[in-house]
Amino acid sequence: MKTVLITGGASGIGLATARRLARTMRVVIVDRDGARANEAARALNAEGASAFAYAADVTKSDEVAAMMAQAARDAGPIHAIFCNAGVSIKQPVHKMSEADWDIMIKTHVKGVFLCAKAVLPQMCERRDGVIVSTGSDYSVCGKADGAAYAAAKTAIYSLTKSLALEFAPYGIRCNSVGPGPIETPMLLAGRTEEEWAPLRAARAERVPMGRLGRPEEVAAVVDFLISDRSSYITGQIIHPNGAQISW
Ligand code: NAI
Repeated sequence: MKTVLITGGASGIGLATARRLARTMRVVIVDRDGARANEAARALNAEGASAFAYAADVTKSDEVAAMMAQAARDAGPIHAIFCNAGVSIKQPVHKMSEADWDIMIKTHVKGVFLCAKAVLPQMCERRDGVIVSTGSDYSVCGKADGAAYAAAKTAIYSLTKSLALEFAPYGIRCNSVGPGPIETPMLLAGRTEEEWAPLRAARAERVPMGRLGRPEEVAAVVDFLISDRSSYITGQIIHPNGAQISW
């Protein structure tokens, strides 16, 4: 059984992906929220899966390196990694603090860099591996009041393309999934269902398919990108987005 490691795996898209992949793979759930990561792994194991959980902050190189080494010891060689941890801080540029800007860039861009750097030596040695990162529709278009988010997601896409070129000779594939609006705790941003219901309808109207996406619909794309069904796809971004953007 191959092993997949998922960052931001305790919630939303990462958790849905962990659930889906746990049917066929050993799953390592990594999140800065260690309690929720543990809870997710426990629930999967109760259903017969082979899941592990680690607390780590993807912006911290020492935590990422230690977690990666421990995960490989516990769960075996890492065949695939889904670099998915993310946060959303939205502000107009002239009101955004430097500290918030740094959090956005560090979590998304440095987070993918550190995780890729930590896992690549073992992938290169085995000449086998898949890296999938979570971009966004905003990897390829701008976002008013979301410049840091869009800049970070564009950088993730760029990093993914460079990784694909650099590691293709080792048989390692690197792709991005670029979701449109997906109903997760990030999109709800702490709102109650009552507060969210009218916003959901307004947000859905802006999507040509007329609805928001489900985390499971992103997980299906990640599953495809990790599997051999996408064996000749690398350096690409695939958008499960209800046609919110097409380019
Ligand atoms: P979520 O908030 O449900 O899950 C994000 C997870 O990442 C949380 O469990 C959080 O604890 C973890 N995390 C955050 N910072 C971390 C860090 N420094 N180290 C380790 N873990 C950390 O959000 P969602 O929606 O599932 O987001 C997953 C990814 O999908 C993010 O990269 C997000 O930017 C991206 N995305 C989400 C969309 C949406 O509409 N929900 C659309 C496009 C992209």
